[in-house]
Amino acid sequence: MKRKKVKIYYGNLFLLIGFVLILVICVIFLFKRLNLNNSDSKKESDTNNYKEVESHLLELGYNEKEAEVIVDNMSESDIMEMDKKYDKLSEYVTKKYFHIENMDRYLSLDKEYDIEEVIMRVNTNIDKPFYTDIKKIEDPSNLLVLVNKYNKLDEDYVPEDLVEVENGKYMRREAAEEMKSMINDLKSTGLYIQAQSGYRSYSYQEELYEGYVEKNGQKAADAESAKAGHSEHQTGLAMDLSIDGTLDESFGDTPQFDWLSDNAYKYGYILRYKKDKVYMTGYAYEPWHYRYVGVEAATIIHNEDITYEEYCVKYLGLY
Ligand code: DAL
Ligand code: ZN
Repeated sequence: MKRKKVKIYYGNLFLLIGFVLILVICVIFLFKRLNLNNSDSKKESDTNNYKEVESHLLELGYNEKEAEVIVDNMSESDIMEMDKKYDKLSEYVTKKYFHIENMDRYLSLDKEYDIEEVIMRVNTNIDKPFYTDIKKIEDPSNLLVLVNKYNKLDEDYVPEDLVEVENGKYMRREAAEEMKSMINDLKSTGLYIQAQSGYRSYSYQEELYEGYVEKNGQKAADAESAKAGHSEHQTGLAMDLSIDGTLDESFGDTPQFDWLSDNAYKYGYILRYKKDKVYMTGYAYEPWHYRYVGVEAATIIHNEDITYEEYCVKYLGLY
């Protein structure tokens, strides 16, 4: 076969390459110019926004220094929505877990506690009397559900995956598996422990609570028993543990309790009603009541020695 000869005109080739190069340089230049213009106008609009937000704060009565701190720590929209001056806002705004929505409530506790404590108390709701402003729990099957005197389970809520732990005591599957391992491992140290009370229905909790009220009066009942809908036992994530079928504070002085204090978190369990946090949980010390939250949350709660309410503020954004 005859090969066709292709003649290359080097002059034309160089011209073409030069043309493409110039084109590329022009495109890059244009692109940069556009970007520069954009960031210039962004800076400009940021400055305008800053001025608008700052002047809104000055109009409300904050001084320049306060306004600067507030602008640095609050969103523009939150600032623009503010329609009054709060005392100490520039201090509160720099604190973790601060929420402007709670500012009036923070200030009503401000004289009693330091700022961090004020924020924690308000965000956990305990500035309000127990069983006020009760919220309906929307995601009862979430393993991290918060059930307390401000958050109520629906009357109809029954967990779908209840399984027996032992002796006719039920929990949700994941919690039950971990509870069984925990009981086995505790027993393997030569100590005895048993599941005493696991899942309880709404109606059973109602009977229990009414029984306590009849026996000891409402005030005492409220310190030891949850009203129906407010018990963690209805979630299938709580278990009362006992040595001899009784549930009382003396359980807190046993080696079983010591073992649980050192190890429960490894199985995802926390001691829910601590001795020093009665004011926050609303219940007397319950060394026997363990709540499943999973190993990750339980480890944090164990290491930081906090209540579940505090965990919810710090890690789940409760306020
Ligand atoms: N004793 C706990 C608070 C309950 O009734 O759920
Ligand atoms: Zn309990």
